[in-house]
Amino acid sequence: MTSRVVIVTGASSGIGEATAKAFGARGDRVVLVARREDRLRQLAASLPQSLPLPADLANTDEAFRIVEAVVARYGQVDVLVNNAGVGRYNWVDALQPEDIKAEVALNLVAPIMLTRAVAPVMLRRGRGVVINVSSIAGLIGTPTTSVYNATKFGLRGLTEALRRELQPQGIAVCGIYPATVEGTEFRQNRRANTGYLMPRWLRLSTAQVAQAIVTLADRPRPFVVLPRIFRVAILLNALAPGLIDRLAARMVRSKRTH
Ligand SMILES: NC(=O)c1ccc[n+]([C@@H]2O[C@H](COP(=O)([O-])OP(=O)(O)OC[C@H]3O[C@@H](n4cnc5c(N)ncnc54)[C@H](OP(=O)(O)O)[C@@H]3O)[C@@H](O)[C@H]2O)c1
Repeated sequence: MTSRVVIVTGASSGIGEATAKAFGARGDRVVLVARREDRLRQLAASLPQSLPLPADLANTDEAFRIVEAVVARYGQVDVLVNNAGVGRYNWVDALQPEDIKAEVALNLVAPIMLTRAVAPVMLRRGRGVVINVSSIAGLIGTPTTSVYNATKFGLRGLTEALRRELQPQGIAVCGIYPATVEGTEFRQNRRANTGYLMPRWLRLSTAQVAQAIVTLADRPRPFVVLPRIFRVAILLNALAPGLIDRLAARMVRSKRTH
């Protein structure tokens, strides 16, 4: 199989790091994007022909600089994995305006800008794959995750629309919707903020999500939910939202103290 050029955002930890390693193990040339340059350089040292590109994606002007640098180095982009993201969980009235703007910028505006920047490069060759890492939170809204839900629902809309817009010209746009993933910094932050705890048997490893992303790059599909059993929750939320409302209300009454 030929070596692809793959951009992975959020490659300095968690799912992004595991994904970069999984593409690297396949012999792909991986572009590693995140803010922590030391982490990217350390990872790049173990991935031949990879390129560490430190960038703060909350500054959405970075998208063009990143794609320009990749094209200058490799002349093409085969796969873009929009993975970098944060989730600041809290009651909506406790969220800080600056944090809200930064979360929307990173989780939603950055993938839009990166896809916009990469599209002409892929369109010229008539092929490419864009993989957006959304979340179950892109399908089901829950208390204390409102802004995160808004960004991940937004990413799902972007994915669906661009799939229909770009597919006819050879570019696949896929969404992946994982539930709880262990071994990430996101998980550590999340536990500090809220009381949600997923039973162990339902939690995913970063390697499982990374493998699913590599499989999507090989054989694009519109929509992957992990673990698959969460399709039941999605169906329930669509068919009986009142039931989920009642469960959520019980959680709010037990946890909200002010
Ligand atoms: N963990 C879960 O349970 C779970 C479940 C479903 C979906 N997801 C999604 O999976 C994706 C990856 O998260 P993760 O779980 O692997 O968490 P993570 O370990 O916290 O990784 C987040 C990555 O995003 C990067 N990042 C954060 N702010 C950035 C910024 N301003 N500019 C550039 N990069 C930035 C971080 O690197 P730097 O700090 O070095 O910039 C890091 O590499 C996110 O989109 C998240 O929403 C996670």
